[in-house]
Amino acid sequence: MTRFDIITCQPHLLTGPFDHSILKRAQDKGLVEVHLHDLRKYAINKHGQIDDYAFGGGAGMVLMIEPIAKCIRELQAQRSYDAVIYMTPDGQTLNQPMANRLSLLENVIILCGHYKGVDQRVRDMFITHEISIGDYVLSGGELAAAVLADSLIRLIPGVLNDESSALSDSFQDNLLAPPVYSRPADFEGRSVPDILLSGNTPKVEEWRFDQAVKRTKRLRPDLLAENKKSTD
Ligand code: ADE
Repeated sequence: MTRFDIITCQPHLLTGPFDHSILKRAQDKGLVEVHLHDLRKYAINKHGQIDDYAFGGGAGMVLMIEPIAKCIRELQAQRSYDAVIYMTPDGQTLNQPMANRLSLLENVIILCGHYKGVDQRVRDMFITHEISIGDYVLSGGELAAAVLADSLIRLIPGVLNDESSALSDSFQDNLLAPPVYSRPADFEGRSVPDILLSGNTPKVEEWRFDQAVKRTKRLRPDLLAENKKSTD
């Protein structure tokens, strides 16, 4: 069982993503638990303060260390955690190999940043992984946390109905996924490739691999270069 404890000052931004479809089913099946923790409950005063001006001046507020430390310590007193992840644009960029590795962890805390980020001492004292979902800046870490959690949860055995389907995703083996088709076999003169209707499974697999390589060459040649590097 994988448990995610997500610390955020905007918990409402995260209630939606985990309440539907695959992520909801994973929780209903007892394969995953997602717990949202509202940072404001750990505020330093009765005004609900969790952020303050940056020492040294400059625009933007900084999430203070005290509420975050209190929340993380409270969680860590209840169970041990394999990772305390901070979502931040200056983290390591998430990719499929990283998602594969992180999906093996059991207890994970995810801290969502906001405003100008968190007091550096939070990162120094508590954070084990700093992760970005891409080279652009979001207004907070919540959507990034949802992306990360989704990419991990779907890899947990039993979450997807057809377990082999995660293995044939794009980026597994550094290849994009091949094209897929469904009924009708002909739509306005555009027909499905004959091989897919042949019932010849080995030939279909060969065709899919060939198409995956062609698509990757055309759209993401950088991925093939990476494959070459790792086998050199
Ligand atoms: N917070 C703001 N922007 C982000 C990004 N690109 N990745 C992760 N967390 C973020």
